[in-house]
Amino acid sequence: MSTKNAATGIDTVRIFDTTLRDGEQAARINLNVAEKLQIAKQLAAMGVDIIEAGFSAASPGDFECVRSIAREVTGSTITALARTKESDIKAAADSLKDAARSRIHVFIATSPIHMEYKLKMTKEQVMDAVKTSVPLARSLAGEVEFSAEDTSRSDISFLIEIFKAAIAAGATTINIPDTVGYAVPEEFGAFVGNIIKGVGAGPEVIYSVHCHNDLGLAVANSLSAVKNGARQVEGAINGLGERGGNAALEEVVMAIKTRQDFYRCGVTLDTTKLVTTSRLVSRLTGVPVNPNKPIVGANAFAHESGIHQHGVLANRETYEIMRAEDVGAEAAVMVLGKHSGRHAFQDRLTQLGYTLEKDDLNNAFAAFKKLCDEKKEVSDGDIEALVVEIISTAPERRYTLGSYEIECGTAIIGGPTARVVLKTADDKEHCDAAVGNGPIDAAYIAMQRITNLNLILENFQIGATSHSSDSVGEAQVTVRHPGTGLAASGRGISTDTVRAAIMAYVSAVNNLYMVAAAKEVKINGN
Ligand code: KIV
Ligand code: ZN
Repeated sequence: MSTKNAATGIDTVRIFDTTLRDGEQAARINLNVAEKLQIAKQLAAMGVDIIEAGFSAASPGDFECVRSIAREVTGSTITALARTKESDIKAAADSLKDAARSRIHVFIATSPIHMEYKLKMTKEQVMDAVKTSVPLARSLAGEVEFSAEDTSRSDISFLIEIFKAAIAAGATTINIPDTVGYAVPEEFGAFVGNIIKGVGAGPEVIYSVHCHNDLGLAVANSLSAVKNGARQVEGAINGLGERGGNAALEEVVMAIKTRQDFYRCGVTLDTTKLVTTSRLVSRLTGVPVNPNKPIVGANAFAHESGIHQHGVLANRETYEIMRAEDVGAEAAVMVLGKHSGRHAFQDRLTQLGYTLEKDDLNNAFAAFKKLCDEKKEVSDGDIEALVVEIISTAPERRYTLGSYEIECGTAIIGGPTARVVLKTADDKEHCDAAVGNGPIDAAYIAMQRITNLNLILENFQIGATSHSSDSVGEAQVTVRHPGTGLAASGRGISTDTVRAAIMAYVSAVNNLYMVAAAKEVKINGN
């Protein structure tokens, strides 16, 4: 398998996106099938080589997500994670069976600490597990990737034997994860180079790296591995992932592209879609992007100081090493209003990274037209708000917002009052009213009563997506269920900030039930 680009003659680094698997494993991120599909479609549209859609054996929900992505997303190889257990591999294979190009990603830990304390297996048992699981996976999917979990803390001679066995059994991608983010760039690059040399496989084998960011070195470690022969990099959009996260793919991609002179490699992905993808992932996961985040942050291409502005005006290369348009940071803003038709609306959705099926599109267009009667100009933030509401209100959601009324102001005696109606999947309406310290507090007390969950509010944030007074309000909440200790986050977006806060709470409750179902824990007997 050559990694050389026929046109340029330089090596291509494959981009493996794990936003939907490792990224979603991050604390308090829960995505439903519709949300994962949106992200997967956008990743494919951007040209990501491999999309890790999930860990099929983890829960029925995960299985369904992988299956839907395998069915509906084309253009990228779709992969699912599996331990070396037969049941995991069969679940991965079943969920991937409709994919045009499928890969099973088999992993087992190889470091002394993981083998002794987590797996309670000897080196010989780990080797046997590789020798039986990889051929099974190979017989059930188009290709197999093998990962030695915690590679960077494993013994290199053992690793070389394990990787040789995995290749002999049919794996064509060998992944070298820095699972706990312990590696440092010079050492990790040399380690990867030594593994490649020691294994001595032919060009049909691609070496991959998967770096975590516990020391803030995930991107640097990944790039050092590329310099030493890795030709696949795994990571997540916005750097999402377990603990400190995974390597931020947008940073890896732009470093390889911008410093092609140094890495002597390229990527095939359409980098002009990076900002849209980052924004979509942020909206759907509810994890905001820092303004100073490289490549996709709001300030990534902003020049504030007079000296810098003067330099950029004279010659942009004085202070800019990349062009904003190369990452899609300067997409033309098209304002929509009541005269805009369905085509313009759909076009804008595509530019924002959303691909809606017919029914959802009809609902979104109807909601857009209604909003046009309320507002003269409809911004991107408004459109995202109404689309996110439609996508997030997938059938598996337990509650949806029916309606609410708020009474507040200096003349109200007794304090702000809220009356909230929530609907359950059987279309029943559940209503309660409460008085609180403020309108949001009152609404939250009313919803506590309706849902009969005495949730602890661990985090509450509300902000605006732009500076004008009619901009979109975005609320994020994290709740914890005291009985089970489970936590979940939710977000809501609306031009009405109280509504955004209520929707964030409803979404957190729904996500809590999703987390409980995945962990097979009952909440209130459900
Ligand atoms: O971090 C890790 O080691 C992983 C593996 C399953 C690839 O996520
Ligand atoms: Zn990982």
